[in-house]
Amino acid sequence: MKRKALYTLPFAFLLLVLANCKRDPKITTVKTNPNDPDSLYQGTKYVIQSNAITFEFPGISNPYKDSLTVEGILLGRRLFYDKHLSVNGTLACASCHILSRSFADSIPIATNVFGPNKRKAPRLVNLAWEPAMFWDGRQPTIAAQAQDAAHNELGIQAANAIAYLQADTVYARLFKKAFGRPGTVNEREIYLGIQEFLMTAISVNSRFDSLSRGQATFTPDEDTAFNYIFNATQGECFHCHAYGGNFLMANYLQGQTYRNDGLQAAPTVNDYKDPGRGAITGVSTDMGLFKNPSLRNVAVGGPYMHDGRYQTLQQVINFYSDSLQYSPNADQFILLHIAKDTAGNYLPTGGMHLSARQKNQLLILLNDMTDTSYMNNPALKNPF
Ligand code: HEC
Ligand code: HEC
Repeated sequence: MKRKALYTLPFAFLLLVLANCKRDPKITTVKTNPNDPDSLYQGTKYVIQSNAITFEFPGISNPYKDSLTVEGILLGRRLFYDKHLSVNGTLACASCHILSRSFADSIPIATNVFGPNKRKAPRLVNLAWEPAMFWDGRQPTIAAQAQDAAHNELGIQAANAIAYLQADTVYARLFKKAFGRPGTVNEREIYLGIQEFLMTAISVNSRFDSLSRGQATFTPDEDTAFNYIFNATQGECFHCHAYGGNFLMANYLQGQTYRNDGLQAAPTVNDYKDPGRGAITGVSTDMGLFKNPSLRNVAVGGPYMHDGRYQTLQQVINFYSDSLQYSPNADQFILLHIAKDTAGNYLPTGGMHLSARQKNQLLILLNDMTDTSYMNNPALKNPF
């Protein structure tokens, strides 16, 4: 007994820390009701289904348990698609995060219940391995992010939402199964449920995955795009859009990284229209930096960039090729492609100067990153 407690203590502590325990409601042991079978913890342990690749699933930051459950995931899925969580019943998470677009929005700047957003809703995929959420990485976990979105996008009124959820027999049962306790739903469980669902939004089946796993053969165009543009000084793409760790397709293994890819012109660090990461850290060298986005499913998830300024991937490629903007925090690999004048100062714009053929080859490679099985995954669809 004592030994077990000794082993589990550090683990439980770690989970609490990960879950940002300061904001957690007090967890008390509640006596189960023998007349209510759902009051016992009976969630069904979730096992990842993937025939393409084996990978480690990260621990969940959930103070109540140490594994995902089928019921917790279904709960989160319903919450994600449910407009009742918004203050006026008009918006759900899924309103801006559309499955056919890899859970991105179809428009540059959506309107939430308070007014227009500042940025474009990005694709949501393989978030379980992502160390920071939002374009500026301001939320550390999916649950914290869901809480942020529920308040700032949906205008959730917790008391009303909880009353609705408790009155619904399907929800009431799922909450009990997912969190293994009877009694009332609490707000934090809403976000932990959404987190469970989004942790299972996993994509590993694009052609790019097969190529990088050596399970498919490069065509000559793909070979050029991969070896002589994407992974070479011609395009520099790999520095920021790394695809290491097989299925992540971003720099997550090194922790979240933020860069300035030459999108915003700015004479000084204080002139970036959107300061991005800098607004969070207050550090001058972070001004104008944004999270390096994963390029998984990029072809279906436009419009592109934090402000959704580009409608098509052709436009993005043209930007890297022909209109990189100089600014003080432009990344070193971007600056390599901006020339200097005779006095040694950077010109206002530059580019990687890709030929029409190279642009097409790069486009083929970006299209290879689409995993249609993700967009068609029945487990991610609207459950209502
Ligand atoms: C009105 C549109 C809208 C709604 C509704 C909305 N989102 Fe978002 N979502 C956004 C925008 C815009 C961003 C990017 C904002 C930023 O980076 O500053 C975002 C970012 C995210 C991210 C970060 C992804 C990443 O890779 O960094 C997650 C996760 C997310 N939303 C989940 C949710 C959940 C869960 C809900 C429901 C509780 C929700 N969103 C509701 C627009 C919306
Ligand atoms: C110095 C780092 C860096 C390099 C090099 C780089 N990118 Fe990016 N890329 C970024 C960042 C950061 C963003 C997000 C910028 C923003 O929204 O302000 C981005 C955005 C994108 C987007 C839009 C993604 C979305 O979800 O909206 C695409 C597509 C893209 N890059 C492709 C490429 C390709 C192809 C190359 C090589 C030719 C490349 N990038 C080179 C850092 C880089």
